[in-house]
Amino acid sequence: MASGFLSEEKISEIRDRANIVEVVSDYVSLKKTGRNHKGLCPFHSEKTPSFMVNEEKQIFHCFGCGEGGDVFAFLMKTGHFSFPEAAEELAKRYGIKLPRLEPSPLQKKEMAKREVLFRINQLASDYFHDLLTRKREGEPGRNYLSQRSVSEQIIQEHRLGFAPERWDGLVQHLTEKKVSLELAWELGLILPKKKEGWYDAFRKRIIFPIFDLHQRVVGFGGRALGEGQPKYINSSESSVYHKGEVLYGLQAARRHVSERDGVIIVEGYFDLLTLHQYGLKHSIATLGTALTTQHIRALKRYTKNLITLFDPDPAGVQATLRTLPLFLEEEVAGKAVLLPKGEDPDTFLKKGNLKGFEERLAIAVPLIDYYFDWLMKAHDPKSIDGKVSIAKEGMAMIQRIPEKIRKDFYVRALAERLDLKESVLYEMIRSAPAGRTRPIEGLKKRPPIEDLPKSEEMVVRLMVHHPDLIPAISEEGILNEFESPVLKRLGQELMGMFQRKGTLSLTEALGGMDEGLKEKLCEYVFQESSIEGDQPGVGSQQRERILKDCLEKIRRRKLKKDESDLLRKIKEAERQTGRGGLEALLMERQELAKRKKGPSQGGFRKS
Ligand code: UTP
Ligand code: MN
Repeated sequence: MASGFLSEEKISEIRDRANIVEVVSDYVSLKKTGRNHKGLCPFHSEKTPSFMVNEEKQIFHCFGCGEGGDVFAFLMKTGHFSFPEAAEELAKRYGIKLPRLEPSPLQKKEMAKREVLFRINQLASDYFHDLLTRKREGEPGRNYLSQRSVSEQIIQEHRLGFAPERWDGLVQHLTEKKVSLELAWELGLILPKKKEGWYDAFRKRIIFPIFDLHQRVVGFGGRALGEGQPKYINSSESSVYHKGEVLYGLQAARRHVSERDGVIIVEGYFDLLTLHQYGLKHSIATLGTALTTQHIRALKRYTKNLITLFDPDPAGVQATLRTLPLFLEEEVAGKAVLLPKGEDPDTFLKKGNLKGFEERLAIAVPLIDYYFDWLMKAHDPKSIDGKVSIAKEGMAMIQRIPEKIRKDFYVRALAERLDLKESVLYEMIRSAPAGRTRPIEGLKKRPPIEDLPKSEEMVVRLMVHHPDLIPAISEEGILNEFESPVLKRLGQELMGMFQRKGTLSLTEALGGMDEGLKEKLCEYVFQESSIEGDQPGVGSQQRERILKDCLEKIRRRKLKKDESDLLRKIKEAERQTGRGGLEALLMERQELAKRKKGPSQGGFRKS
């Protein structure tokens, strides 16, 4: 992931020089316990510490939520750093010189183009704003906004604009400014005529420029005056505008969101403006799209308290419910506020209901309760079928909660509503066939919990803590006999790495592994037993004996399994009329029997 930006060597150098305990201590208060440091996990809420940092191996892992990795991963997971930013931060802190990287010619071209795109958007925004606030042609726009009681201050703060009823206003303006009209087309500001030339995309509309966090204009929304259709048009996706990421008003709201430690999420341009006008400046709006995981992550940097305020119509209810799984997975606290039927925040506030609005905010319902309420209405909780449906759907949702205490809490709540025992609900998810719930965007891939063979685990644990045993393990070829695919892959990764580099760097291993393997590896690193550790009394001889025992057990079990597989095949073949395959199988069986008695049985050659 890193190459291309910094060399592997530089990254290794930073990793070697940085001290993960120091870096983490900026965020978490850590206590030393044995070989590890322990603290409250910054990535999920918990009351008893399950977040561990291992100084010697320079990695962290949370046994509550499964987050883990090296110092880079830690900084990135705090949400404040991208990978290059994390590298820069660490280099600064530990006095490491970073080469100033020249961007490639292609990157330079791309950057230059983005600059031009931003400039065109800025020119267009100034043009629309000027028209609305200063020009005679802006009269209809001014009238419309005043009729909707939008204040002068809001018009200025949000740089609202007006596109007049003309086909070539913006085209002419951009032509005068000598910018590329092709690029203005790419931004969705103008469109090509059938034959030649261009025409304005936004006509006779109120214009809402959309800003990124650097106050650059990335796109526009435009509302028709009166009943014109379509009601809104929006600029197209472009390399500077991604609807799934940008939130309308965030540049203005973020300071207030931090201060009030909460954010109100609405669906419309006018709703957002009205909220700001009435002093509820910790509000943002999505832009005609559903709330995405990226949106939530953008908000999470400022607060974990998200309040949705969608329309009370069925579409709004659905939109509210759809956000719940995303909130759960991102571990933010979601609440829903409901307005009376037929109202949106704009109409409601403009009727003078500020007090009523704030009261509703104060009693916002946690989304999951809202969801349970909805379930109880969607199904009949008195009938047995209804109960089953509610239990199933409710538990499917609860299973998305990563944090155990919270999960338990809601299982209890659901059980109470259904007048069932909690154990019944737990039993239900245990017996449900795995892999039925649809994985959704951004969901952390947790490995399925399998019962791992103890001796295979022990071999991998020994590899982790005593890499000097790896050559011997490799020579035995034992990984091929592993039953657990996870352990086999983990073993192979570690072995491959050791063979390539001559040492085992856990931080590097963690960097290259997928989530499932990573989590297992962390478990082994942090939960070291007395046998793997360098405890007094456990000598290398004893470890070798243990390894030998494991190898023997693994081989014996594999043999047994091969045997029963074979027997099954033989029976199968006998049942078939043509006995062609049987002979071969019987031969195989003899081979197996030989292997069982053979000289290499349970062998462990000392390297
Ligand atoms: P609404 O239809 O609820 O409109 O759409 P609104 O925001 O209340 O606007 P007013 O008060 O009637 O003027 C909600 C949001 O959905 C997007 C816009 O972002 C809008 O603010 N939308 C709606 C579109 O993108 N296109 C449309 O045609 C309609
Ligand atoms: Mn409205």
